[in-house]
Parts: sequence; structure tokens; C-alpha cells
Amino acid sequence: MAQLLVVDLAPFLADRASPAALAECAKAARGLATHSAVCVADARVAAASNDAFLDLLEAYFAQSDAAKRADARPAVAFQVGATPPHTELPRCARDAECAALAAALPPPHRPAAFAAADPKWRFFHRIGARPPSTAFAGLHAAAVVPAAFPTWVEEMDAWGLLMHGAVLVLSEMIAIGLGLPADTFTTLTKDGPHLLAPTGSDLEEYGSLGTVLAGFHTDLNFLTIHGKSRFPGLNIWNRDGEKMLASVPDGCLLVQAGRQLEYLTGGHIAAGYHEVVVVESTLEAIKRQRERKRPLWRISSTLFFHVASDNELYPISKFATPENIERFPRILAGTQVQKELGFLNLSTE
Ligand SMILES: *[C@@H]1O[C@H](CO)[C@@H](O)[C@H](O)[C@H]1NC(C)=O
Ligand SMILES: [Fe+2]
Repeated sequence: MAQLLVVDLAPFLADRASPAALAECAKAARGLATHSAVCVADARVAAASNDAFLDLLEAYFAQSDAAKRADARPAVAFQVGATPPHTELPRCARDAECAALAAALPPPHRPAAFAAADPKWRFFHRIGARPPSTAFAGLHAAAVVPAAFPTWVEEMDAWGLLMHGAVLVLSEMIAIGLGLPADTFTTLTKDGPHLLAPTGSDLEEYGSLGTVLAGFHTDLNFLTIHGKSRFPGLNIWNRDGEKMLASVPDGCLLVQAGRQLEYLTGGHIAAGYHEVVVVESTLEAIKRQRERKRPLWRISSTLFFHVASDNELYPISKFATPENIERFPRILAGTQVQKELGFLNLSTE
């Protein structure tokens, strides 16, 4: 697989009508259509901000199990607060279509086993404004503040708003790159249930080669954006079913397409499959972190960017061909999310 394309936000932020800006917009649309992922360079996001966030989450996940379990909210499908390990099932575990797709990949590109629930912890924290009214209150529950972290909301918002800002600009650029009005996606995602969604995987316990930290799946939201992790291990697949270990260059944010973007583009941009597995370079990072006496929690600094729950998903504009309309029947984004949460063993509804 070729390297991921790097989309620089700077020309667009300086002058969105400039030829350089338009070239970056075209690249964003092309990169997502080809690889379901792009690297994004946003000079507004300092490496120190990612570091501060990773330090905070290492401290959070290093707490006792009991302290973290107090932050779990199963009644709202874990959509705020902590998700304990062995709760979330990789989507493929319950989706025959996905399992068949995985089985059809040639062995070097086949994903690791995905039948068991993931051993990772996660913490969900909503970012951005709440909708003035919504039929999906459970997707917009009040923030959970861990007892030992009095400034949690401010610190989580600091990183979350940086990711939100980057992905918002990218959404305009993708729309332009696809030949759509610039505000197409920013209108649909306004007041969406965007979630800062760091995962924490305990590599003391789950650090042996080949251990699956998050089994093969696509994300259910519109776009997913991450800063660089201190431990490699994220494998991503392109449209042709080729697997590659995501290596995020310094100064880049990794962005992946989710199912809502696939829906809106009638599959022109497909949601990107990925998994997190302990690989050789994870072991090297474990050794390095051990020598530095750093915690062995693998943190992801992920934000899930969503279409607003009360908006409908359907193939828009030029993507509304008869075949696409049949393949992607209209559905409220909130209903789509609730259905997917059932697949993931997060919701019993
Ligand atoms: C589903 O999640 C529950 C916790 O909510 C957990 O006890 C159970 O083991 C999970 N199911 C599977 C099949 O992993
Ligand atoms: Fe994911």
C-alpha cells in the first residue's frame, strides 16, 4: 500500500479560494476515497498538547479497577464515562457480512482473531455544543468527572476541541474536494454527539506479541481523528483490502472515514477497517517506555466526529443514484448509532 496522503490545512486556513488550498481539498477527498484514511497536518495542534493529553490518560487508566468502574454508565450504553475491558465486541464478531469479508482476504492481509470482546478500557467525553432539542437524550448525557481529577473537563476539552477544530476544517475541505457545497458536512455534523474517546490498553497484562487490543472493525461515526500514540499497533486496510501498519509522521493527525461518511457518499468513500494488535514495534516501544520508567498503558487520543443524531443519513447530491438509494436507505443518525451500539455489545436496546 502506498503511503497515506498528507493533507495540510495551512493553505486553506490562509486563503480557502487559493489554488494551493483547492489542491489540498482534492487530495483530502482522493485520499479518503482510496485509503479510507489521510494524515492531516494542522499547525494549530502542538505536539505538547497531545503529550499532555496522553499523560493525563496514563494517570487515569493507572488507577485501580474499582476507581475506574465507578465512572461507567451502562444505562446510557457507556456513551459517557468509562467502558470496562471485555465489554465492547468488535463489529465483525456479530456481523456476518464483515466476517465474510475478513475471511476472503489473502492471508498476509487477514485480520487477527476478532471473536472475543476487546481487553481495552475506554473513556467517553462529549465535545462541543448540545443540540437545542433531541430525540436521543441518551447520546447526549452529562459528562462524567472522575473523583481524583477535579480539572478533568477542562483538560479533556483542551484536547477534544483541538481535534474537533481540525476535523471541522477537514470536513469543509472534503466537501469542496468532492465538488459539494463547502458547508455540506459541517451543517450535518453541527451539534452532533462528538466523543473524545481515548482507549487505554494495559500492556503489562496484554503486551505479548499478537495480542488483539481492538479487533477488526470500522467506526460507526462520520470521521475519526487521532494524535500519535506512544505505542504502534494500529493496522488499517485500504479499499483493496491491503493491510498496513499506520505510521503517523510527527506533526500529523490520522483521520479515518467512518460509516456515516460512507452512507452520505453512497460508498464513494468507504469506512476504513482497522484493528489494534501488539506487533514487533509495539514490543520495542514497551522496552523504551520501561527504560524511561513510563507507564505501560497504550493510550489513543481519539475523537469520534458524528453527524447530529436528529439528522438523516442518505446518499446526498450526486451520490443519490438509484443503486445507492437502495443500498443506503434513509435512517436517522441517532437510530443508526443505537443499532450499531447493539452490535458492539454496548447497548441492550
Ligand atoms: C457484553 O458486555 C457485558 C458488560 O456490559 C459483559 O459482561 C459481557 O461479557 C459482554 N459480552 C460478550 C459476548 O463479550
Ligand atoms: Fe475504531
